[in-house]
Amino acid sequence: MSGASDSSLPVVIIGAGLAGLTVALHLAQTQPVIVLAKRQLEEGATAWAQGGIVGVLGNDDSIDSHVKDTQEAGAGLVDERTAEFIARRSAKAVEWLVERGVPFSPDPDGPLGLHLTREGGHAVRRIAHAADATGKAIHDVLLDEVKRHPNIVLREKWMAIDLITNRHLKKSSQDPIELPRCHGVYALDIDTHRVETLAASAVVLATGGAGKVYRYTTNPDTSTGDGIAMAWRAGCRVGNMEFIQFHPTCLYHPQERSFLITEALRGEGGILRLPDGTRFMQDHDERGELAPRDIVARAIDFEMKKHGVDHVWLDATHLGEAFLKSHFPTIHARCLSLGIDIATQPIPVVPAAHYTCGGVVTDLDGRTDLPGLYAVGETTYTGLHGANRLASNSLLECVVLGRTCAENIQEQAPIAAPKVPSWDESQVTDADEEVVIAHNWDELRLVMWNYVGIVRTTRRLERALHRIKLLRSEIDDYYAAFRVSRDLLELRNLVDCAELIVRSALSRQESRGLHFSRDYPRTLPVSFPTILCKKSKKKDAWLP
Ligand code: FAD
Ligand code: SIN
Repeated sequence: MSGASDSSLPVVIIGAGLAGLTVALHLAQTQPVIVLAKRQLEEGATAWAQGGIVGVLGNDDSIDSHVKDTQEAGAGLVDERTAEFIARRSAKAVEWLVERGVPFSPDPDGPLGLHLTREGGHAVRRIAHAADATGKAIHDVLLDEVKRHPNIVLREKWMAIDLITNRHLKKSSQDPIELPRCHGVYALDIDTHRVETLAASAVVLATGGAGKVYRYTTNPDTSTGDGIAMAWRAGCRVGNMEFIQFHPTCLYHPQERSFLITEALRGEGGILRLPDGTRFMQDHDERGELAPRDIVARAIDFEMKKHGVDHVWLDATHLGEAFLKSHFPTIHARCLSLGIDIATQPIPVVPAAHYTCGGVVTDLDGRTDLPGLYAVGETTYTGLHGANRLASNSLLECVVLGRTCAENIQEQAPIAAPKVPSWDESQVTDADEEVVIAHNWDELRLVMWNYVGIVRTTRRLERALHRIKLLRSEIDDYYAAFRVSRDLLELRNLVDCAELIVRSALSRQESRGLHFSRDYPRTLPVSFPTILCKKSKKKDAWLP
C-alpha cells in the first residue's frame, strides 16, 4: 500500500451506475480502474430509468431552447454556463451511447434514426429512449463492455465507508503532509465482512442520490446518499440539498413499492384526473399535465389533501392498447400483473421522492474541493438542475460530465503516494442489537416524509432537525462501538443527508422550485444556491 508513485495506483470509482461506468470506460483507455458497487452490479437508479435521455438533435430544436427549458424548470437557480456546456455536448453523448450499441427506439425519419419523445417542461420532442426502459438498455450495454475491459476490475458488493484523507495519514505517518488530498477509500467487502484499504491515485464518487431518506420514493435501495455524506465528512462543500424532486406519478399500490409511471406517458397524452374523473392540472398551470414536475407534484398533493384521497388517477385509456403496448411495454405489463389494464383503466398514482438535485459541489470536470476527489452524476451539485431538474437531464449529465471527469484525471501529473494506514477495528465489537438500526431507519424516513416533504413549514423543519440530531447521536455511539455493517453505514449516511436537507431548507427563506414553505410563500426577486460548508474543526477537516 505504500511507496509507489500515484501513476501505479488505480483510480477507484465508487458506483457502477451510468456516471461510474462512463468515467470507467473513458479512463480505462489509459489507466487501471477499480469500480465498486455496494450491491449487485445491476442495482442502482440508472437501470430503473424509464423516460430517456435528452439529446438536442431535432431540426426544430436548438441549444438555446434546451438551456431555456432547463432554466425555466430550475426556477432561476440554474447555472447558465453548466446548462450550455451540457446541452452543447448532448448530441455527442447520445451518439456515444448509440456507438456502444444501446438499442434506442428507432424512427427512420428521426435524427440519427431515433424516435424522440417528450416530457414535462420540454418545448419540443428531444428525449431519446428505449421504449419505457431506457436506463436498463443503457446500463446493460455499458456494463457488458466494462466487464470485458482488461483495465477495469469490478468489485461487486464492496461498500465504500469513508474517504482516506490527510487526517488518516497523520495518525500513522511521521512525514509532514503539505497539501490536503484524497488518498483512497476504506471499503467493506459485504460477503467476507472485511474492511479493505484501497489506495488510489484518484477517487470518483458516483454513488447516486439520497431518495431513500424518504419513506416513499421511486429510488432503489442503493440511493442512500453515501457519496454526499462521505464528501461532507471529508470537508467538501455540499449545495442545494433542499431541492428534492418528488416525481408526480409513482404507482399507488399496497404490494408495489417504488414503481414509476414515466412522465413520457403524460408527454404522449396521459391525463391526470380526480376520483370523479375531473381533469385538474389546467387549474394549476396553463401547461397542464406537461408543467414542470414541482408544479405537477404540488398540484397533486394539493388535490389529494383537498379531496381527502390517497391518490389521483393517470388516464391513458384514450391512447389505445396497441400504442401503449409498443411505447410503454414495461408499464403495461407491470400494471397488468397487478390487475390494472392501462388500456382500459386509469392508473392510481401519487408523488414520491425521486431525485436529489443538490449534492457535492463540483466543477465541469467533476473536481470537488478536495484534490484527488472527483464526483459525477446524481451525487453532485453542478448547477445544472437549479431548484428543480428538467426531466431526462440526469442521464445526460452523467454521460457528459463522466467524460470530462475522466479527461481531467488523465491530465494529472503523477505524484508520490504516501503510506495509507489500514482500517482500525481494535476498539469495536460485534453489534448486539441490530433492531436499533432498523428502528432508526424507519423513524428517520418517516420524519423526513412527514416534516420535510412537498410542502414545508419552519416549525416542521425544526422538529425534524431536533429528531435528526437525536438519531445522529444514537447512530454515532453505535458506530463507535460496533463493527460496521451495510445497514449501519447506510443509516449513518442517510442521517448526514437528512441533516443537510433540513439545514438547507431552513436557510432558504422563500419558496422556489421544489422548496415550498408555507411560512415564506413568496419567491424572492434575487436568490442564490444554498452552499453548506463544514466548520473547519481540526478534528475532522482536511484543511490544514
Ligand atoms: P446510480 O445509477 O444510482 O448508481 C449508483 C451506484 O453507486 C450503484 O452502483 C450503487 O451500488 C453504488 N453505490 C452507492 N453507494 C455506494 C457505496 N457506499 N459503495 C459502493 N458503491 C456504492 N433520469 C433521466 O435522465 N431520465 C430518466 O428517464 C430517468 N428515469 C428515472 C426513473 C427512476 C425510477 C429513477 C429512480 C430515476 C430516474 N432518473 C432518470 C434519474 C436517473 O436514473 C439517475 O439520476 C441516474 O441514473 C443516476 O446515475 P448515477 O450513476 O449517478 O447513480
Ligand atoms: C420519467 O421517466 O418520468 C423519469 C424521467 C426523469 O426522471 O428524468
